[in-house]
Amino acid sequence: MYLAKTDRYQAMQYKRCGKSGLLLPRISLGLWQNFGGKVPYEISREMVCAAFGAGITHFDLANNYGPPAGSAEETFGKLLKQDLHPYRDEMVISTKAGYTMWQGPYGDWGSKKYMISSLDQSLKRMGLEYVDIFYHHRPDPETPMEESMDALVTALRQGKCLYVGLSNYNAEQTKRAVGILREMGVHCLIHQPRYSMFDRWVENGLYDVLKEEGVGAIAFSPLAQGMLTGRYFNGIPADSRAGGDSVSLDAHRVTPEKVEKAKKLDKVAQARGQSLAQMALAWVLEKEQTTSVIIGASRVQQIAENLGALNNLEFTAEELSAIDQILGD
Ligand SMILES: NC(=O)c1ccc[n+]([C@@H]2O[C@H](COP(=O)([O-])OP(=O)(O)OC[C@H]3O[C@@H](n4cnc5c(N)ncnc54)[C@H](OP(=O)(O)O)[C@@H]3O)[C@@H](O)[C@H]2O)c1
Repeated sequence: MYLAKTDRYQAMQYKRCGKSGLLLPRISLGLWQNFGGKVPYEISREMVCAAFGAGITHFDLANNYGPPAGSAEETFGKLLKQDLHPYRDEMVISTKAGYTMWQGPYGDWGSKKYMISSLDQSLKRMGLEYVDIFYHHRPDPETPMEESMDALVTALRQGKCLYVGLSNYNAEQTKRAVGILREMGVHCLIHQPRYSMFDRWVENGLYDVLKEEGVGAIAFSPLAQGMLTGRYFNGIPADSRAGGDSVSLDAHRVTPEKVEKAKKLDKVAQARGQSLAQMALAWVLEKEQTTSVIIGASRVQQIAENLGALNNLEFTAEELSAIDQILGD
């Protein structure tokens, strides 16, 4: 039987999520790609248990995580049943609906019909009565935003989630969605955007909106799917995301320019006494609006290394400007 380490809360740092009562760990674990049906269960188990044992209380899922879609939630459900159920109240579990999940007109995007059925399916797969955070995964240009927000609020009122969030909404869409939720008497807890040294779009308005509205931010792909680590310094390893059959990253996207920049950034990281992965996480965490970063991992050692980022989250003005210069080159 799994027994979590008793000192698990000592090393982790927690930060309040926007204007809410909820504290999130600065580093959260996402189950997008390496926890599905294609990965041996024991490896997924080892990673989730190692994370929880290190104070990572937040686990990020979505209906479509796998592959195949749904299987990451099944893995997590099995883990909860076998090992983690005594700790349910020590965990913040999120899921989302918004991407293609099943055939026909009700298995995608942002209708209330889709979002509520999808959440019911997610709860069944995980064996949960409620998730802590339910997100709309992406804005739907063809469904009135009021309806997608109504789906989130309905889930909340039904007790199927405790908080609601948005993901991949731009600054303007976020402002509107947060306003609609407010009119319905619900505070938007959190926004989940992609944010890393290689993708800084949130700096052009989104983070300002989140600050104004008291909404927390949890950044996904903070390591640019591995490109902001040493993973690709000597080519594309066969056991890496870009070397496998991932649809989100292939060898062509690991361009020589990106690798060159990563190598230059690595020098700055070394001078700070960190690995590149640690500095990349620290750089996102250092921004005032960032509540947490969601890392992905394919092995326990990566989680352990990434947790080391917390040992140095401060940057000098010189370091930040050296990083800007490399990124701007
Ligand atoms: N809301 C959304 O639309 C959305 C979209 C994408 C992701 N997300 C969430 O964000 C989470 C994280 O996304 P992500 O997996 O792209 O994040 P990431 O942390 O940028 O990339 C994770 C990958 O980087 C590599 N890696 C991690 N630590 C490493 C280390 N110390 N040294 C070397 N390589 C390392 C591993 O790749 P290898 O597999 O090559 O070892 C790992 O699978 C997802 O699980 C999901 O929960 C949300």
